[in-house]
Amino acid sequence: MLSLNHSLRRKLLVWLLLPMLSLWLAGAVAAYFMALNFTNIAYDRTLFDSTRSLAEQVRVVDDIAVVELPRTALQILLSDERDRVYYQIVGRRGQLISGEPDLPRPSIHDRIGVPILHDGELHGEKLRIASLYVIPIGELTGRTVLIQVAETLNKRHILASEILTSMLAPQLGLILLAALIVWYGVGRGLLPLSEVQREIASRSHRDLSPLSEVAAPEEVQPLIHAINELMGRLDHALGSQQRFIADAAHQLRTPLAGLKAQTDLALRQSEPESLHHALEQLSTSAGRTVRLVNQMLALARVEPGADKALELLSLNLAALAREITMEWVPQALRKTIDLGFEGSAGPAWIKGDSLRLKMLIDNLIDNALRYTPSGGKVTVQVTKAEAFVVLTVVDNGPGIPAEERKLVLERFYRVLGSGEEGSGLGLAIVHEIALLHDARVEIDTPEAGTGVVFRLMFPVPLGMNSP
Ligand SMILES: Nc1ncnc2c1ncn2[C@@H]1O[C@H](COP(=O)(O)OP(=O)(O)OP(=O)(O)O)[C@@H](O)[C@H]1O
Ligand SMILES: [Mg+2]
Repeated sequence: MLSLNHSLRRKLLVWLLLPMLSLWLAGAVAAYFMALNFTNIAYDRTLFDSTRSLAEQVRVVDDIAVVELPRTALQILLSDERDRVYYQIVGRRGQLISGEPDLPRPSIHDRIGVPILHDGELHGEKLRIASLYVIPIGELTGRTVLIQVAETLNKRHILASEILTSMLAPQLGLILLAALIVWYGVGRGLLPLSEVQREIASRSHRDLSPLSEVAAPEEVQPLIHAINELMGRLDHALGSQQRFIADAAHQLRTPLAGLKAQTDLALRQSEPESLHHALEQLSTSAGRTVRLVNQMLALARVEPGADKALELLSLNLAALAREITMEWVPQALRKTIDLGFEGSAGPAWIKGDSLRLKMLIDNLIDNALRYTPSGGKVTVQVTKAEAFVVLTVVDNGPGIPAEERKLVLERFYRVLGSGEEGSGLGLAIVHEIALLHDARVEIDTPEAGTGVVFRLMFPVPLGMNSP
């Protein structure tokens, strides 16, 4: 529960935080360039103002341009706490009049008095430069001088980062807040699951009653429903197993009590002849008990889950049924029953387990021979249809009343008054094996009107039996 809780949390957080953080990063890049742009606009204006102020100090004296400002005043004009500031005054012919000689010149020669702002580099440092062409006071021939003031970019970067942090910090806070809310919200949202967990944990292993679906949140209701269905199936399976054990114990008690009584009786016999007779009876009873136990074992082996390695292989059901029928012929002869086999033309392939199918056919033939009186007729048949191979065992005995045809497939169910011994498990075994093969079982009255016909329809893949 806890780990489910955590991983859900982690997933939701990752799904939320990853896109938010990438958006935030993209936003940060965009914001930085915007901040830089506005910073540039603001500082460019001041830079240009300095250029203009400097320009006002240029005079032409005796046909030579000079700066009228004392050096200290010039320094004050151009001083800055954060950046290095340079200036340059260049005459019409390109000769340096004053200031920094290496300052880059503008690539365009604009109109007089119109500011030119451009980027440049000096001594490896990036610069922003404001340039202005002016005609100085005292100049009579209209010759222009170029005035340039440049500064490094420190304060621009500082301001841009300040704008950036003041914008981004609250956004980051919001993202963290959202993550916290998700963390807490998921915990709150999953609280009802803990209740379900508590309900399951506090249960006894015998209690397979359904969990309450209504109390659970809508999203987990299908899960609870599936658990309930599984518990239902488990309950059913456990119930039928318990019934089987109870039935088996009950069924074993009677013959074992009989054996005990017969043994006691035999012990009291002194005459060899009557002792022999008592022992013969004892042997017959023991034989019946052995049959009962064998049938129980057989059933236990074919019940679902008994053998996980059930492998259905292609086999020819006609050949298998013929072989098994032949094995029963001596038994049939003893009871003067006409046992015969009618096969399809050619092999009848199905997907099956030959050992279990032998068990199935044995039980059907055993019943037919056992319940059909002497002089009767039993026929085993294998026919092919489009998508089925049909195994039929038909006799002309007493038959099974229609209302009992479903019941005889259940364990330990026997039709009263047959006068024959049996454990009542044979048809349950048949039924289980049929289920393993996805085969349908039908019990009918034969066309002749008397007896019973068992029909098993084995589905086959299309084309498996095509000529
Ligand atoms: N061919 C049949 N003709 C008439 N009754 C039948 C036939 N086959 C089965 N029955 C009836 O169905 C009942 C159940 O048969 P099933 O084979 O399950 O048990 P059983 O034959 O009594 O015992 P066993 O486990 O020894 O086979 C039988 O007791 C019998 O009354
Ligand atoms: Mg039987």
